[in-house]
Amino acid sequence: MQFGIDKIDFYTPNQCLDLVALAHARQVDPNKYLIGIGQKQMAVAPLDQDIVSMAANAAAQLLTPLDQAALGLLIVGTESGVDQSKASALFVHDLLDLHPNMRTLEIKEACYGATAGLQLALDFVRQHPTQKALVIASDIARYGLNSPGEVTQGAGAVAMLVSAEPQILALEEQSVYASQSTWDFWRPNYSTESFAQGKYSEEVYLSMFADLWQQASAQKLTQVDELAALLFHIPFSKMGRKALRTLETKIQPQAYQRLTKRFEASIQYGQIVGNIYTGSLYLSLISLLENDMNLQAGERIGLFSYGSGSEAELFFGTLQPDFKSQLKSAAHQALLANRTSLTMSEYEEQFKQSLVTDGSKQVVDVSDVAVRHRLTGIKGHQRQYQ
Ligand code: HMG
Repeated sequence: MQFGIDKIDFYTPNQCLDLVALAHARQVDPNKYLIGIGQKQMAVAPLDQDIVSMAANAAAQLLTPLDQAALGLLIVGTESGVDQSKASALFVHDLLDLHPNMRTLEIKEACYGATAGLQLALDFVRQHPTQKALVIASDIARYGLNSPGEVTQGAGAVAMLVSAEPQILALEEQSVYASQSTWDFWRPNYSTESFAQGKYSEEVYLSMFADLWQQASAQKLTQVDELAALLFHIPFSKMGRKALRTLETKIQPQAYQRLTKRFEASIQYGQIVGNIYTGSLYLSLISLLENDMNLQAGERIGLFSYGSGSEAELFFGTLQPDFKSQLKSAAHQALLANRTSLTMSEYEEQFKQSLVTDGSKQVVDVSDVAVRHRLTGIKGHQRQYQ
């Protein structure tokens, strides 16, 4: 029996910032952002889209009544949690109107959190093959106005249904993983913005990738002649490109060419959504599946997950016979194409908005009447959703 990703969907808010406009405002050559960083736009979350509402919006179209009945586990991976105690997954459980007899929890380890959730979910369905698990990655990347990381912000959520006999990607049990404590990127409890030692974070990312690639090769997991694509956690597309380039001298030219071509398809969505932390690797997967028309069932792909702080995993899966029928390419392309492009002043004004923290009541404006789930406000320190 095989286990893996049965269905996948994503949500990103209906507004974005053009990075050429950001470059002009920050008096930077636009090519630094477009080529040097490799990003074109970034999603901007309005106040009524937090990680709970985005997670619920990503999962809203995913589950049939039969899937819902089979759910035994719900995990939200996030590093933008809204409460120190109550799991965001419980808010999502309520918004999706799920049955009560399941385990519901939140996982944090920077951008690795959803991969940890996915691996737990796989173990769960291997133990309980008649049940299913819902794993959602949801995050808002915030570095601050005028910061070096500003151009790498973004917002969005990816929802994945994990089951036996999956329709999209069967994942292998054997993978390689590693952990070490680093100060490459972090966000203390008192800060709404992340801190990063940017160049150092790139070094740690690359060294963990090199290490895991070597371990995987030693265990004969990579077999690049057979690997159809290699997906990366994409904080910005240049980061994944740098990791891929390290393989140029290690693998056959033909295999490197194939991985490079597939890489271009995998970054298309991320380049206009930005870093969505836990969801970035899985947005790369959706982007590859929906933008590379030559992908075939039976092809094997590798996935490199990296979370600052730091933890990484390299794992592998095989595309399933029916994977194309499960894609929602038209809906995703419409979601991305119909976003409102913010002016710099609108973006900066929204960036400074926040929810009250003194227990008073606040009603939050509606940013998008068409969206199913949103934060409506806060009352007595409790977030209110619709
Ligand atoms: P910076 O100091 O502004 O950038 O910060 P730079 O001056 O080094 O320039 C960036 C690149 O643009 C360079 O290329 C320049 O040469 C090039 P590179 O040497 O890197 O190949 N460049 C140009 N190219 C074309 N035309 C031009 C031009 N000018 C310059 N005119 C940095 C960049 C990424 C460090 C910053 O944005 C940052 O701190 N970002 C946040 C941290 C980050 O994303 N780190 C990535 C690895 S850690 C990770 O992935 C985990 C994370 O997702 C969090 C989590 O796990 O939760 C972040």
